[in-house]
Amino acid sequence: MSNQPNIAVVGAGVVGLTVAKLLQEQLNNCNITVIADKYNNETTSHVAAGIFRPGTSFKGPTDEITKRWIDRSWNYWDDILKTSEAPQLGVMSLSTYIFSKQNPHVTKNHLIEDLVPIYRAASEAELTLGPQGTKYGAFFSTLKVECESYLPYTANKIVEKGAKLVNGKVESFASLSNFDLVFNCAGMGAKYLCNDHDLVPIRGQVIKVRAPWVKMAFYGDYDTYIIPGMNGTVTLGGVRQYDSYNLDYCKHDAAAIRERCCELLPNLKTAEVVSNMVGLRPHRKPVRVEPEVINGLKVVHCYGHGGYGVMTAPGTAMDAVDIGVNFLRSNIRSKM
Ligand SMILES: Cc1cc2nc3c(=O)[nH]c(=O)nc-3n(C[C@H](O)[C@H](O)[C@H](O)COP(=O)(O)OP(=O)(O)OC[C@H]3O[C@@H](n4cnc5c(N)ncnc54)[C@H](O)[C@@H]3O)c2cc1C
Ligand SMILES: *[C@@H]1O[C@H](CO)[C@@H](O)[C@H](O)[C@H]1NC(C)=O
Ligand SMILES: *[C@@H]1O[C@H](CO)[C@@H](O)[C@H](O)[C@H]1NC(C)=O
Ligand SMILES: *[C@@H]1O[C@H](CO)[C@@H](O)[C@H](O)[C@H]1NC(C)=O
Repeated sequence: MSNQPNIAVVGAGVVGLTVAKLLQEQLNNCNITVIADKYNNETTSHVAAGIFRPGTSFKGPTDEITKRWIDRSWNYWDDILKTSEAPQLGVMSLSTYIFSKQNPHVTKNHLIEDLVPIYRAASEAELTLGPQGTKYGAFFSTLKVECESYLPYTANKIVEKGAKLVNGKVESFASLSNFDLVFNCAGMGAKYLCNDHDLVPIRGQVIKVRAPWVKMAFYGDYDTYIIPGMNGTVTLGGVRQYDSYNLDYCKHDAAAIRERCCELLPNLKTAEVVSNMVGLRPHRKPVRVEPEVINGLKVVHCYGHGGYGVMTAPGTAMDAVDIGVNFLRSNIRSKM
């Protein structure tokens, strides 16, 4: 190994760019090349509202690791919120109501109840803010990360510090044999790179509307959510279609989303549509953060974050970077 290791990061979504950033901070003497066939508004990360609210389908290899990823991620974003860089990075605080007509469980969230500053049951008076017939509700304070800002801002930062961004598709790890270490942050692309049958797409579709009057997030029954962003744009969702690879816009999904969101928050009826977006959540149980030697090449996998990759990118990236730094120092020959 030369004194300046050559490291490739495959993927320029929220996971790849966060890995590259943390790696650069930890190893001040390294040569990082990010390789991706999609950047910024072409990635799945760009479609996400980016709210910090994990679902129970998010799992690491153990409950302890899952909790550590979530806690460390929260602290990472919360520290950014305290800095003047927060708006440029797309990080903002967000108060949220969740309402249900049928299910008391959806108002609970064991992964963040003790983590966020406020998480409590909604009062009788607050339940009247939900649609007719609302029986259960909770209020919590959380944050969100807008990849529309986070991705280009982070890419610029790492390039300023010497990283290179390359446009291209990696057909196999064999083509990266000149690197000392490779991070695989390819999201759904890892399915083909690793022939991983445990990685399954969960299709999502959202409508971005202009509604600067919406200041809080709302969740309702049937995967309905309303999540405001920084500049008056609000994300309306959603759908969760398991094992669907369809990236085409579906007008029926859009109509259903709009109807459900307007029932949850009637003042959205007049909101003008900015865009419709579709993305495939890279779902895997557990999320894969682990090393592997592939034909002598040291690879650290970090993919399979499902519907929660924006919020959990930092916590998983911290583990991936630690694994990678130890891997570099180990004796396994990396060059073929
Ligand atoms: C509708 C919707 C709403 C969502 N809402 C939220 C939310 O509120 N909060 C939250 O935390 N998460 C949310 N998510 C989930 C989140 O979007 C994903 O978990 C996250 O974007 C995954 O990030 P990633 O970097 O792994 O993947 P991606 O953003 O898909 O990036 C993958 C990168 O790898 C590159 N790549 C792949 N294969 C190759 C290859 N062979 N060669 C070169 N490059 C390759 C791609 O070009 C791309 O740059 C949502 C997702 C959807 C679809
Ligand atoms: C950094 O890595 C890239 C890609 O392998 C290589 O082209 C470049 O020469 C390396 N730069 C240095 C200073 O080692
Ligand atoms: C994506 O970004 C590029 C470059 O900034 C822009 O030209 C293109 O119109 C954008 N595409 C969409 C769908 O917003
Ligand atoms: C929101 O507005 C600010 C200030 O005008 C700008 O810097 C930022 O890029 C905008 N963000 C998005 C996501 O449009």
